[in-house]
Amino acid sequence: MAPPSMQTANVTSSAPQPIVLEAAEAARVVAREIAELVRAKAARGERAVLGLATGKTPVGVYHELVRLRRDEGLSFANVTTFNLDEFVGVDERDPRSFRAWMRRELFDLVDLDPARAHVPRGVGDAVELDAECARYRASIAAVGGIDLQLVGIGRNGHVAFNEPGSSRDSRMRVVELSGVTRADLANGFGGLERVPAHGLTLGIADVLAARAIRLLAFGEKKHAIVARALEGPIGPELPATFLREHRDARWIVDPAAASQSR
Ligand code: PGA
Repeated sequence: MAPPSMQTANVTSSAPQPIVLEAAEAARVVAREIAELVRAKAARGERAVLGLATGKTPVGVYHELVRLRRDEGLSFANVTTFNLDEFVGVDERDPRSFRAWMRRELFDLVDLDPARAHVPRGVGDAVELDAECARYRASIAAVGGIDLQLVGIGRNGHVAFNEPGSSRDSRMRVVELSGVTRADLANGFGGLERVPAHGLTLGIADVLAARAIRLLAFGEKKHAIVARALEGPIGPELPATFLREHRDARWIVDPAAASQSR
């Protein structure tokens, strides 16, 4: 193991330069990259495998993809998707589930085969949920892994539901949601006490296995965490820092979210 002074030097040199764009432009840039990937794969007779996220941050990308479908005929017929996470105890027919959210924002608005739009199933007992995690990871492996993974960052530095304390080698599992995460979800559930206590999430190691990662962060609410995630020590206290160890991870942030980064 390197002495502490060297570790600090490493961390500084690995601080990535974020790409700073207004949110609407960032959504267009990322949607265009996805469209190019989908078309290139289709031209080779292959499927593109996209890793998707829910939340306020990626929604602009989905709206742009829907527009590309409508105006430019972009087809999702050769696309397979895997979402990062889902609530435990929320059925997929429940409008508050991440599956229902994805249907409203993307799945039902493009020509994606519903059988290839994967979201973890969050319903079942502990044994069933563990089996769901194993099954879901096996489905990703069976299609050759994820080509491009979209992620957001929570105010506490989480990635998907990998809350602070999640290790670099964590795999898909059931996790307890943190207080910050539950507070940020309270509106959608009509009060903090109604927000589920647990979620199913791909682990950090699963996310890092994607061939490309695009992290998006917008708004002043994210500026402090973006600065810490880009410049602080890499470790489980701030799970998003692990993305700095990926060779094709881009951090795309708007001017407000970038405002505390050097
Ligand atoms: P948000 O959530 O996009 O709704 O801000 C991001 C996250 O918690 O990962």
